[in-house]
Amino acid sequence: MWRHPLEEGLWLQILERHHAGPLFALTDRNREHLRPWLPWVDNVREVRDSLAFIEEGLERFAQGVGYELGIWLEGNLIGVIGVHRIHRVNLSALIGYWLDAGHQGRGIMTRVTAAVLDDLFLARGLHRVEIRVAPENHRSRAIPERLGFRMEGILREAARHGDRWIDLMIYAILDREWKALRR
Ligand SMILES: CC(C)(COP(=O)(O)OP(=O)(O)OC[C@H]1O[C@@H](n2cnc3c(N)ncnc32)[C@H](O)[C@@H]1OP(=O)(O)O)[C@@H](O)C(=O)NCCC(=O)NCCS
Repeated sequence: MWRHPLEEGLWLQILERHHAGPLFALTDRNREHLRPWLPWVDNVREVRDSLAFIEEGLERFAQGVGYELGIWLEGNLIGVIGVHRIHRVNLSALIGYWLDAGHQGRGIMTRVTAAVLDDLFLARGLHRVEIRVAPENHRSRAIPERLGFRMEGILREAARHGDRWIDLMIYAILDREWKALRR
């Protein structure tokens, strides 16, 4: 992947090493916004932590088990969407995402997630895609709900946020369901 235009001024592009500076700046500006849901934010202390994240995504891309895409609006990096754990036998994968606080509420992540689902189901031939979300994260839950995912269950205390354990809701969609919705 590519530079994938979604609409005027909005595109996705695989994160590369030279994006580490802008990615760190974006993360640094959004610490308060991300911390309740993405506790890794406190481990990102300098540009080389963002670089390590990008390199790990490139490694996943090279191995065919995932990728990390930057979301650009009018030339500015405004968020990230990542694909994890592409399973070559089960043809399944997980999606995770985050967006700059100031760009929320415009449907950007819904459109971006739909584009990634097109890539996973139509281009890569996957069978099942999951999104895992904390029950209290209503903004994030709305994305799979809007895109036709089904809530399949709850992983109890599956994520650790400091000294707290967080439940995760599993949302999933199958290739035939996505293709039927796109018709
Ligand atoms: C979760 C997160 C990515 C949502 O991003 P977003 O772009 O605001 O989400 P959406 O694409 O669903 O936008 C929906 C909003 O845009 C509005 N919207 C405008 N045009 C729209 C369109 N064409 N399609 C869908 N929604 C549209 C909707 O009405 C909705 O507004 P509302 O939130 O006031 O109801 C963002 O809040 C975030 O980064 N949160 C912190 C990190 C996080 O929780 N990550 C996920 C961990 S599981």
